[in-house]
Amino acid sequence: MNILLAGGAGYIGSHTAVELLKAGHGVVIVDNYGNSSPEVIHRLEKLTGKNIPAYCADVRDEKAVSEILATHPIDCVIHFAGLKAVGESVRKPLEYYDNNINTTLTLLKCMKKAGVRNIVFSSSATVYGEENPIPYVETMKKGSCSNPYGWTKSMMEQILEDAAVADPELSVVLLRYFNPIGAHESGLIGEDPLGGPNNLMPYVAQVAVGRRDHLTIFGNDYPTPDGTCRRDYIHVVDLAVGHVKAVEFAASRKGTEVFNLGTGNPYSVLDIVAAFERNSGVSIRYEFGPRRAGDLPEFWANADKARRVLGWEASRDLDAMCRDTWNWQRNNPEGYRAPRG
Ligand code: NAD
Ligand code: UFG
Repeated sequence: MNILLAGGAGYIGSHTAVELLKAGHGVVIVDNYGNSSPEVIHRLEKLTGKNIPAYCADVRDEKAVSEILATHPIDCVIHFAGLKAVGESVRKPLEYYDNNINTTLTLLKCMKKAGVRNIVFSSSATVYGEENPIPYVETMKKGSCSNPYGWTKSMMEQILEDAAVADPELSVVLLRYFNPIGAHESGLIGEDPLGGPNNLMPYVAQVAVGRRDHLTIFGNDYPTPDGTCRRDYIHVVDLAVGHVKAVEFAASRKGTEVFNLGTGNPYSVLDIVAAFERNSGVSIRYEFGPRRAGDLPEFWANADKARRVLGWEASRDLDAMCRDTWNWQRNNPEGYRAPRG
């Protein structure tokens, strides 16, 4: 199949491109490089030995997206193109609603015009909200989100589901990611947050490489085994393989289906620090600070449905997640801005 990756130069999209190519599919990338770099495309070509058609365009631009769909015969779209910083979404809600909702609407309109029937969407565990018991199961009702970013994901899920009800030809797969970390084992691609990391693992990696002085752990008085929050961290390559399964599943049926992509195993912030130290040999300076607004004490996935229906299961453990993050970070201390010679 030929897959259009909207936001394909980003962290998850780039790793998915590698796994799709490895599985024998073709990929086309469209990205405005708002949170990524054209250097990613060079790295992907080096890594896979394939020529990757890539377009610099805003996915809200109907004309640009229609032209791409008219140029390439596309079987499925994967929609990664979103703004994703939780804190920023509280300060700039309109930008988040504009970007995230309108990219979705534009893709759906252009797909209909071009006769593309399948879409896989990057959703998030955040849609379970605060009310649901853990572990989260796909059959649970969505909850109320604590920030505009989360609401955009919840609304986009609804938009896609409604579109599939109205158009019986449409196949929608909603993937609810838990906490992706790690990098490709080659060290050629990885997570490169522009403007400073918001998430735990890239922060730890930047402390390790000397770009940050120390990590602040947000709260150590949670009702968890060691007092720090617990999450379901998943290796980004496992997540990428989940997309290959999702694309193949999407092509085989119609309507909407939802899958959690997680491991089902929670780790605390202190577990992550210890595992990173063990796998890098670098000690991570940290101090405890106040809780971060909106953080839940703990959540993880029930990952049974993806195993049963997609035949997918995460296979890389926490050591591999830390090892691969460190391999990427120490080979690319400044991320994609200072390409290796
Ligand atoms: P990312 O920022 O690395 O990738 C997103 C890509 O989309 C970037 O390359 C960015 O430049 C591009 N983009 C954004 N808006 C665009 C637009 N209007 N037009 C064209 N390109 C645009 O983020 P990621 O971590 O790879 O996340 C991918 C998707 O997965 C996002 O939708 C994100 O919300 C979702 N998600 C991420 C996580 C996570 O922890 N990383 C968790 C749950 C869900
Ligand atoms: N944390 C710290 N210090 C930091 C950064 C994070 O202690 O500098 C802690 C947080 O308080 C939390 C844990 O590390 O307890 C994980 O935080 P992240 O920011 O890495 O991840 P979140 O669970 O908050 O959120 C992530 C994505 C969201 C997504 C959610 C569920 O950022 O987009 O997972 O999928 F919605």
